[in-house]
Amino acid sequence: MKSFVFKLPLVAAGLLAAGLACAQEPVAPIEVPNDVNPALVELGKKLFFDPRLSKSGFISCNSCHNLSMGGSDNLPTSIGHNWQQGPINSPTVLNSRFNIKQFWDGRAEDLKEQAGGPIANPGEMASSHPAAIEVISTIPGYIAEFEKAFGSPGVDLDRVTTAIAEFEKTLVTPNAPFDRYLAGDKNAISADAAAGYELFKSVGCASCHNGPAVGGGMFMKMGVVAPYETKSAAAGRVEVTGNEADRNVFKVPTLRNVALTYPYFHDGAVWSLDEAVDIMAKVQLGRTLDETQRKQIVAFLESLTGDQPKFDLPILPPSVPATPKPEPFN
Ligand code: HEC
Ligand code: HEC
Repeated sequence: MKSFVFKLPLVAAGLLAAGLACAQEPVAPIEVPNDVNPALVELGKKLFFDPRLSKSGFISCNSCHNLSMGGSDNLPTSIGHNWQQGPINSPTVLNSRFNIKQFWDGRAEDLKEQAGGPIANPGEMASSHPAAIEVISTIPGYIAEFEKAFGSPGVDLDRVTTAIAEFEKTLVTPNAPFDRYLAGDKNAISADAAAGYELFKSVGCASCHNGPAVGGGMFMKMGVVAPYETKSAAAGRVEVTGNEADRNVFKVPTLRNVALTYPYFHDGAVWSLDEAVDIMAKVQLGRTLDETQRKQIVAFLESLTGDQPKFDLPILPPSVPATPKPEPFN
């Protein structure tokens, strides 16, 4: 009886210690979501790939967030309607559900609010919300699928953005070599990558890049210690808050799949991870890393590439003669 009484606190202390050891790691594994509605996900997937949400009938969400290329476009800044040069680098949609807010300056609260933005942005898909809704609501296949997914008939912006956001919630990338390493498989990453993770923590990268997405959780100045030279006119979070202290403050980007989402930074000016790490150490931490240290951190960053979302390419329901026509050339 006595020993039983004494064992319990010991077991509890052991569990607590294990829990604490785990909680001390700044990077958390990516969990596969089990909180999504499958009918909405299917509909949102179609809309994500549907260029008819754009004025040209040519640009879809996937044009700039290509799921075959890490959810980005691998361009310095995106190309919008009429081949317009975009003002800023396209961030990945992968693991975007973990972002504290959406966009580099955090001007959208969540994925649903964000999804309405590009459709009506003249520099991106260049449609208007009523025009995009008119197109979708003439397509018989969509009419039926909206009714099925929402339980009542009707196509509107709220439903379109709800479905797209539901699909985006599934765009997570679990099971990266680094996650297997964290879970105890010490051979899942190279010795360089393991050393790189220790450096990532000890030099201070993890103070901004942490959590399941290794970023996305806070806004920080680009150039804490030394200014970052850029030709980009983007002013960052000051445009949302009006607070001068927020000039050049951007959302700390996720480093999950960062090996796939070049070029780097909000201006897309840097094409190699080695250079991006060098700049980060200098402008954020006031440190110069040597070649070996950079190589090790890059190896760690490369170990953050997880299983990419896999699904059959969605087949989109065809338009009918009454569907408003695309306007690709004006
Ligand atoms: C013409 C290219 C383009 C198209 C089309 C486009 N996006 Fe984007 N997307 C961008 C750019 C550029 C940004 C960053 C803009 C900013 O932060 O000011 C962005 C930001 C985002 C973000 C925020 C990610 C983050 O880390 O903050 C999400 C989510 C997103 N887009 C989803 C979508 C969806 C859904 C669609 C389709 C409805 C779409 N995008 C269409 C270029 C595009
Ligand atoms: C003070 C916070 C902070 C610290 C410390 C920090 N970063 Fe960053 N990191 C950011 C912000 C903010 C950005 C986005 C800046 C921009 O694009 O203007 C960023 C961007 C990046 C990018 C580019 C990601 C992309 O998709 O464009 C990489 C890679 C990166 N950081 C790695 C590191 C490494 C490695 C370290 C440590 C040597 C580090 N960071 C330290 C805040 C920080």
